[in-house]
Amino acid sequence: MVLSLALLLPTLARAAQRFPQTTLDPQSDYAGLIQRLLVDLVFWVVLILVVVEGVLIVTVLRFRARPGAPQPKAVHGNTALEIAWTIAPALILAAIAVPTVSTIFRTQSPAPAGALAVRVVAHQWWWEFRYPRLGVVTANELHVPVGRPVELTLESADVIHSFWVPAIGGKRDVVPAHLNRLWFTPRTTGTFPGQCAEMCGISHANMRMTLVVEPPTDFEHWVTLQRSPPAEPAADSAAVRGREMFENVGCAACHTVRGVSAGVLGPDLTHLASRSSIAGAVYPNTPEMLGKWIEDPPARKPGTQMPKLGLQPGQITDLVAYLRSLR
Ligand code: CUA
Repeated sequence: MVLSLALLLPTLARAAQRFPQTTLDPQSDYAGLIQRLLVDLVFWVVLILVVVEGVLIVTVLRFRARPGAPQPKAVHGNTALEIAWTIAPALILAAIAVPTVSTIFRTQSPAPAGALAVRVVAHQWWWEFRYPRLGVVTANELHVPVGRPVELTLESADVIHSFWVPAIGGKRDVVPAHLNRLWFTPRTTGTFPGQCAEMCGISHANMRMTLVVEPPTDFEHWVTLQRSPPAEPAADSAAVRGREMFENVGCAACHTVRGVSAGVLGPDLTHLASRSSIAGAVYPNTPEMLGKWIEDPPARKPGTQMPKLGLQPGQITDLVAYLRSLR
């Protein structure tokens, strides 16, 4: 029975693949260590449950009161028993504490040399990712190569948030005026969703992100693209009119498009069109959704600092054409 319960865990994990934010399907060494600990502890906990409940059931059946049976012998003050049931739980607690503490030390140790450094800045309500050694700045979509350790330095621009991509491991709080760290080595390629896990205001639930783990060559390709200057829109196109609008209606005050504007309140848009989502990974990055978003941001995401600019449909079309040109 214990064995079948222990065997159930991997089965649950497989079933959980249909649920992208499951914690039972580890995709990094860090998440793997946590999973190992969970599986081991569940095994021992189930074993204890079965033994204790088994003894209880046998006792109830075998020693239940029968007519004419003598009074049972009192065990009060039995030194051997007292010592036994004091030491046994202490041993059990030690057996839980040793692997737990050792896992904490392993996952909290300094990142290996050569880890990919990423500065994560949490904002109400989006994620900024800066790669200081690569000169890349992006938002809501964290790209990392498979197999290489990644060290995240977590900081907040405003309130307390929590960085959480379940596939790569546990949550880590992102606290203002304090640096937290988290490192992991992704072991499978894929796209894994994550989100803020600390109540941080009205759009806390709209503070999501995507982790993209890719082969090293794809990652290098992505870095090259992100470092390149933004695409130059064709002369006389809607995108050119859109760029003028971008500079004049207020977008430029909050957003950076390298070489065009230098706002820092909102996400860097230099390569917006290369990202799969917008608005804190809440909406897909399609022309239609981009238009709806620009038309009335607070209606799409409560509390967002991005204001409704009251643009005409034609102006929105031009702006979307420009933003879509930022590949
Ligand atoms: Cu940020 Cu919740």
